[in-house]
Amino acid sequence: MYKIVKKKTINSQVELMVVEAPFTARKCEPGQFIILRVNEDGERIPLTIADYDREAGTVTIIYQVVGYSTKLLSKKQEGDYINDFVGPLGQATELKKHKRVLGIGGGVGAAPLYPQIKKLKSMGVSVDVIIGGRSEEYIILEDQFKEICDNIYFATNDGTRGTKGFVTDVLNDLLEKGNKYDEVIAIGPLIMMKAVVSVTKPLNIPTGVSLNPIMIDGTGMCGGCRVTVGGETKFACVDGPDFDGFLVDFDECMRRQSYYKEEENHVCKLDGI
Ligand code: NAD
Ligand code: FES
Repeated sequence: MYKIVKKKTINSQVELMVVEAPFTARKCEPGQFIILRVNEDGERIPLTIADYDREAGTVTIIYQVVGYSTKLLSKKQEGDYINDFVGPLGQATELKKHKRVLGIGGGVGAAPLYPQIKKLKSMGVSVDVIIGGRSEEYIILEDQFKEICDNIYFATNDGTRGTKGFVTDVLNDLLEKGNKYDEVIAIGPLIMMKAVVSVTKPLNIPTGVSLNPIMIDGTGMCGGCRVTVGGETKFACVDGPDFDGFLVDFDECMRRQSYYKEEENHVCKLDGI
């Protein structure tokens, strides 16, 4: 059992939990994820690690309360326990000692972006970040990013913070103004990562993306997290979750991600969650 040592509401849809998980905290690296089960017969949900403290033995997760299991998780409070918390899983992000990198975080995707940017900064890389959200309320981890970024930009769909529009509007603007980046790391909704790649690919700016398909075992056995990358079948849980954005079949990912929406909504209604 894994104790929740801190719980914080970030906005109306997003929550943060710091969980006592000493083994995971000791071993995890940016880009890796955990799979948790809220209770004994719960569904397994993969969540990217947002931060970790090796000395305290804790791992921070940030999640959107959207489906059946995240709603169950959200009912837990500080001092309560999570049944299973398995990790670190997946490959750590291959972070290169570039001169300058641009991170793009869309909504809750800013959470897994944060440890990658933090590590790049510690390696001496100059980092800019664009954070996007539907409105100001959905911009997350602003203070944490400000501490480590050279420049930070915002985009909100309704214009309540930064540029009115998508993160790709800011990206286009930065590139038009002559900013040069050795790599872009984009994490957020699939449609956002696809749109980022449509800007960076013609300019040949290497672009890493992080995929979060439906996962079950998280060990490459069930095939649930199958994605097509460069025409080959990959399993996001063991081969990823990070992939070369130029090679990802985003349309297939989007189709597969929505497979069980109807069933999930049905179970939520049945259980009154
Ligand atoms: P959202 O729908 O509010 O979008 C966030 C931002 O993405 C928008 O503000 C916008 O700037 C950008 N965006 C959205 N559509 C775009 C488009 N068509 N073109 C260009 N930019 C666009 O995001 P949310 O509701 O917070 O959802 C976050 C998503 O991130 C979820 O779908 C979740 O599955 C995903 N996620 C991914 C990972 C990962 O590891 N890959 C981790 C956590 C979350
Ligand atoms: Fe089963 Fe990846 S979650 S193969």
